[in-house]
Amino acid sequence: MESVILYGSQYGTTRRYAEALGRMSGLPVHNAQHKPDLAGCRLAVHLGGLYAGGVKGLKQTLQALPQDARLMIVTVGLADPADPANVANIRRSISLQVPPAVLARSQIFHLRGGIDYSKLNLMHKTMMSLLCSHAKKLPPEKQNAETRAMLETYGKQVDFVDESTLDPVLAAIREALS
Ligand SMILES: Cc1cc2nc3c(=O)[nH]c(=O)nc-3n(C[C@H](O)[C@H](O)[C@H](O)COP(=O)(O)O)c2cc1C
Repeated sequence: MESVILYGSQYGTTRRYAEALGRMSGLPVHNAQHKPDLAGCRLAVHLGGLYAGGVKGLKQTLQALPQDARLMIVTVGLADPADPANVANIRRSISLQVPPAVLARSQIFHLRGGIDYSKLNLMHKTMMSLLCSHAKKLPPEKQNAETRAMLETYGKQVDFVDESTLDPVLAAIREALS
């Protein structure tokens, strides 16, 4: 596998993006949490759902990736990536998850996923309930894209998945492979 798409997804929105990117690019798609063999891999595109800032499955991808391989990280979250403060937050948190040398040769993209509260497991339901009751108490000037997205969608089913937002990722893959 010289080039591969990997994903970390709990509820399926990230997997949908990864599968769409696989169809668009012709690259094979694997669940990062199944620890695929990445020996000989030159380019890995990792798509991961955001969970309290962590990129799902990225740890497993980083463990398996050869040292000199190129990495693209694509985050999928509820908060709007059109908000620069949200992107800055996500990047700050990625810098804590990825070694500096790997980060220096990585490209990072941000997409919007979705949430269906009826499908959340008990731990995630409890976490969201605690986070929302804390966010509700914040004055508006202290709320950010993350807290706003959480409060606006709390208890609902929302789906912001838009395959056309994969276009910049596809362009970067084509450039890397040319
Ligand atoms: C417990 C929990 C924590 C979350 N943390 C974040 C977050 O930090 N930032 C964000 O933008 N979205 C956050 N989300 C929303 C998910 O990133 C979003 O639902 C995403 O589409 C999930 O991907 P998946 O369906 O592939 O698992 C969180 C959702 C849950 C349930």
